[in-house]
Amino acid sequence: MSVFKIQPIKKFAKRLTCAPDKSITHRAIMFNSAADGNSEVRGILLGEDCLSTIDCMRRMGAQIELKGDAAFIKGAGGFKSAELYCGNSGTTMRLLCGLLASCGGEWALSGDESLSKRPMGRVIIPLAQMGAKIFSQNGRAPLKVSGTKLKAIDYVMPVASAQVKSAILLAALGAEGKTSVTECELTRDHTEIMLKSMGVEIERSGKTVKLCGGQKLCGSNIEVAGDISSAAFPLVCGLMTGGTVCVENVGLNPTRTGILEIFEQIGADYEITDEKDCGGEKTGTVTVRSLGHARAFNITRKMLPRLVDEIPVLAVLACALGGESIISDAEELRVKESDRIAATISLVRAFGGSVEETESGMIISPVGKLKGGCAFNPRGDHRMAMAAAVAAAASEKGGEIEGGECANVSYPDFWEMFFGG
Ligand code: S3P
Repeated sequence: MSVFKIQPIKKFAKRLTCAPDKSITHRAIMFNSAADGNSEVRGILLGEDCLSTIDCMRRMGAQIELKGDAAFIKGAGGFKSAELYCGNSGTTMRLLCGLLASCGGEWALSGDESLSKRPMGRVIIPLAQMGAKIFSQNGRAPLKVSGTKLKAIDYVMPVASAQVKSAILLAALGAEGKTSVTECELTRDHTEIMLKSMGVEIERSGKTVKLCGGQKLCGSNIEVAGDISSAAFPLVCGLMTGGTVCVENVGLNPTRTGILEIFEQIGADYEITDEKDCGGEKTGTVTVRSLGHARAFNITRKMLPRLVDEIPVLAVLACALGGESIISDAEELRVKESDRIAATISLVRAFGGSVEETESGMIISPVGKLKGGCAFNPRGDHRMAMAAAVAAAASEKGGEIEGGECANVSYPDFWEMFFGG
């Protein structure tokens, strides 16, 4: 375990491209591996989570050649039975359940200690309604998937989860009839956008997505832009230290840009430029200059899926704002890579912030500059490690992040970016 020592940073000012989008990389690798034909995916994230997906797809028979950050994929044309290790990656395990449920073969899916504690019932229940045979340990991994014939369902999701929606849509491709999935809140729609680009007819009306079974995927060349959930760390660090930070070529899909709504709420001085369309996904450059009004923010149910992974670093930001910031309806954070409500509260307190736990989130009171001068252990949760690095840099005394190498899960160059010139 490495310890990352962080001195207070006067002005964190940088122009950078951040880690590529994790959600889009998973999907581009997985869907193209399941497709007919060859494809190229450029600018992929080579973080540990996506490497787990690449390893699983190779074990199932897809040919994936990596050259730098490009993946050249030859679809498997049917998957072979295999033992699949998903590491720390919930997206890999949940999406694979959907993808494999209708294929001929048997798969054993396992993960690390954190993934083995996370709820899988949320995908097993709807997939079982379609006829899938998935065996778990009381709704947790390790799982066994026995591919079988599936039928379409109309499913109303009890949780706002893009992973669950995606698993059902992937299973629906191999099911008989037309499946509909209705979300309780809109979640990231990368699956829908990518399936469309691969020739799938998919309809959306309001919160409902529908697709007919029996549709084949055609390999599609994809370019992956930066991940706004990774950009969040340098952007917040810039805001808290009064440095201008410019992150180029970031994904700005509206289902992901809750952090920009927070910048609006707090009255930050920020700007979006160079907006483009990248295969149906919006991208652009985000520049932050100063906290501006520094008003407190309020996060509620509707917004949550649009910034679900940014909560730890937004809680750090809240310490520097001018009032009580409220995060509610955030129960989902309890079942991420760690219990991120508990972890965020201990992070904020360790650095000298003031936070109160509520049933579904937390209330953070302003303290001005954080004191710091502490050590923090993110317990293997990548986003907690990076949020703690921001807290340390923006504090009076800095801090130490123990086991900070877990940032590799989603942002392999994080420490280089953070400490680099
Ligand atoms: C993801 C969806 C989110 C997010 C995760 C990636 C995805 O999870 O937290 O990091 O790629 O679909 P849920 O859909 O379970 O909320």
